[in-house]
Amino acid sequence: MEKQRSSFTGKLGFIMAAAGSAVGLGNIWRFPYLAAQYGGGIFLLVYILLAVSFGFTLMVAEIAIGRKTGLSAIEAYKKLDSRFAFVGVLAALIPTIILPYYSVIGGWVTKYLFSFIAEDIHVIAADGYFEGFIASSFPPIFWFFLFIAVTAIVVVLGVEKGIEKVSKVMMPVLAVLTLIVAVYSICLPGSIDGIKYYLLPNFSEFSYKTVLAAMGQMFYSMSLSMGIMITYGSYMKKEVSIEKSVRQIEIFDTGIAFLAGLMIIPAVFVFSGGEKSALNKGPGLMFVTLPKVFESMPAGKVIGAIFFLLVLFAALTSSISLFETVVSFFQDKMKWSRKVSCAVVVGICMLLGVPSSMGNGAWSGFTLLGMDFLSFCDFVTNNLMMPITAFFTCVMAGYVLKKGTLETEMALSNGSEKLYHVVIRYVAPVCILLILLTSVLDFLGIMKL
Ligand code: PHE
Repeated sequence: MEKQRSSFTGKLGFIMAAAGSAVGLGNIWRFPYLAAQYGGGIFLLVYILLAVSFGFTLMVAEIAIGRKTGLSAIEAYKKLDSRFAFVGVLAALIPTIILPYYSVIGGWVTKYLFSFIAEDIHVIAADGYFEGFIASSFPPIFWFFLFIAVTAIVVVLGVEKGIEKVSKVMMPVLAVLTLIVAVYSICLPGSIDGIKYYLLPNFSEFSYKTVLAAMGQMFYSMSLSMGIMITYGSYMKKEVSIEKSVRQIEIFDTGIAFLAGLMIIPAVFVFSGGEKSALNKGPGLMFVTLPKVFESMPAGKVIGAIFFLLVLFAALTSSISLFETVVSFFQDKMKWSRKVSCAVVVGICMLLGVPSSMGNGAWSGFTLLGMDFLSFCDFVTNNLMMPITAFFTCVMAGYVLKKGTLETEMALSNGSEKLYHVVIRYVAPVCILLILLTSVLDFLGIMKL
């Protein structure tokens, strides 16, 4: 007999929980630096196109898989078709690799919150402050440990509900504050070139790498291809519309990412004149740019502190959902107790998180495929493992399962159903294969693009 699953209370409960997982560092930290690096407007355009087609389809499929089976990813794939059981395992491995480096960035956010409270804003906004911080060995590790400890304590004590309650208030406030800072940024003198760069697509900047980066970002930001939405779907009540919920999560998630880009990219142009090197800052972009924006604002120290507090909450709701997924993976698969599983997850975080943290400083000489350890973990999960997981999910849902298995669960409207079928059977699998193949050929130097 299947275990009785507790359900989210109604529609809003599901949307809030799923949005809590979706909106996180991916929107505020990761999206702007990728958009800056991959050509601005062209990245934004590709991202939005992917989100409304591919992102919508996959999220609908994953939630339907969860609600149909009432199981978490590992068991769900197995139950639907035992040949696809490996996809569940792959999906569960992804958050195991993401959580450690996510927590390193969560640590940076925590550090900035404390800096805005305790330090002079001119010091934080000065050139070299961020670089000095991440290059030092002990401080980033201390903040990383603190972040992962808070995440673990919340999960072990089972007080996620409390955090969720707080974040229900914090998330809309974060959206409003991001909007305010974005409006402020675009009003700064000299921002116009940055606004143009971010909003107007320049097709000469387009390459397969734009699609690869935007696709990885879409998975990451919408918490797709790692079993999370399957688990959430398994808790979703039957009478709630999957289609409407997905639309709302998508709009919220993409909206916040868009505003975060607007908040950061024009400001990069204002403070650096839009040099290539400033746009290519990578993971540090938000930490370098935002303090300068806050410094130029009236009451910037207070606004900066509030901003980093809100981002910290967004990061925590996401890290908690990552932590939970990995813990339940060990509970289900290895049959370990919850306590032991939590301890193992913390251990894995230390093992992978410390090199991620040190890779920006003392261990920066150690690279894999030319990347520091944090970027390597990010690349392998977002640009390789997630597309592969998504590919097999599409094949299973689009070709292998009997027609109607998931469709009745989804109950899509006519137009959406057509979109779903075209994307899950043709657009998504073909697009993923082409992109992965091109990446490999490019990497091997067989084809230069
Ligand atoms: N979607 C989250 C973000 O944008 C990251 C995340 C992925 C969280 C998967 C949980 C699970 O930050």
